[in-house]
Amino acid sequence: MPTLQNDTFLRALLRKPTDRTPVWMMRQAGRYLPEYNETRKRAGDFLSLCKNPDLATEVTLQPLTRFRLDAAILFSDILTIPDAMGLGLTFVAGEGPKFERPLRQEWEIRNLFVPDPAEHLRYVMDAVGQIRRALDNSVPLIGFSGSPFTLACYMIEGEGGTDFAHTKKMLYQRPDLLHHILDINAQAVTAYLNAQIESGAQAIMIFDTWGGALAHDAYLEFSLAYLQRIVNQLSRERDGNTIPVILFTKGGGQWLELIAATGCDAIGLDWTTDLAAARQQVGQRVALQGNLDPAVLLTDPDTITTQVSNTLASFGHGHGHIFNLGHGISQFTPPENAAAFVEAVHRLSPAYHTEKNG
Ligand code: CP3
Repeated sequence: MPTLQNDTFLRALLRKPTDRTPVWMMRQAGRYLPEYNETRKRAGDFLSLCKNPDLATEVTLQPLTRFRLDAAILFSDILTIPDAMGLGLTFVAGEGPKFERPLRQEWEIRNLFVPDPAEHLRYVMDAVGQIRRALDNSVPLIGFSGSPFTLACYMIEGEGGTDFAHTKKMLYQRPDLLHHILDINAQAVTAYLNAQIESGAQAIMIFDTWGGALAHDAYLEFSLAYLQRIVNQLSRERDGNTIPVILFTKGGGQWLELIAATGCDAIGLDWTTDLAAARQQVGQRVALQGNLDPAVLLTDPDTITTQVSNTLASFGHGHGHIFNLGHGISQFTPPENAAAFVEAVHRLSPAYHTEKNG
């Protein structure tokens, strides 16, 4: 295996010394880039773009051409799994995802199956292989999936923005049914992520976007327990390299020690969590990724630089921080502000990695 030209991101995930803080942005390939909108137009719509490995490769690389990012992330979506389960996914422009056949009846839930990644999700594996070849060992490629609970929210609600009424009703009244869905989802996510690793993904991130909407006990039983199962069953090594796993529960700041105890390598933080306090809590157990408020990128380069500086100071000296936004980049971000963000991390972070203070 030829070595990576830039392994700063992978080293930071494993809390190894680096000479600066690596940086990437959640949703770094997306609508704030005019070239992305142009490629999506060529594909027809968002889902067709995800299902076309040539075009998915093209958009994955677009932000890397513009900015000095330390990682690429597979261009796809977390909803590819429920799509492969036959729930009938569509993305209506400006409205977000919709499922034609959300899970409401018990028989629909009993009929759920674990899709075979090599068959139903082959286009994702093809994209991973193609992106790796295109990256040519410049920076590592992140593979990803939604968490079993976050996927269940979309599968049950059928769309976003519903306050999870159906999901939570099921959670309290028919926990057996929700557990059945989560069990199938955990098996599907494990197989899907292991197939991505087999196809060339060099790090894995699991997006638990809606875990933070749960009550404390419900989070442990219906989200964290399934994240734990996946962490236990992932292929954590490939060709002699460790495959680090990042868990991101949005709104999960109160559960950091429990998340760290799953045995993941890093925790993604949203912007509501104090990075310094988080570092104290998790100690040497995991790396931390985050957590600038994406709204900062709507301002101006000077304000962005100040906020980047504050975030770096909050983590403080030493290794094990991956700079990122606290959630996906807004589609209204001027690309020159994203550039100012990445450059500020490059310029200001080496001071936090000097020998004396490391
Ligand atoms: O980070 C990246 O660049 C990789 C690509 C990526 C996308 N979605 C592309 C996308 C990733 C990692 C995701 C994850 C995802 N998808 C999550 C978890 C992360 C998070 O944001 O919390 C969720 C909840 C989804 C489901 C989803 N996909 C929603 C709710 C929407 C609509 C919301 C919106 O922003 O419009 C999408 C669409 C989507 N996924 C877009 C992109 C670039 C925009 C679609 C378009 O081009 O029209």
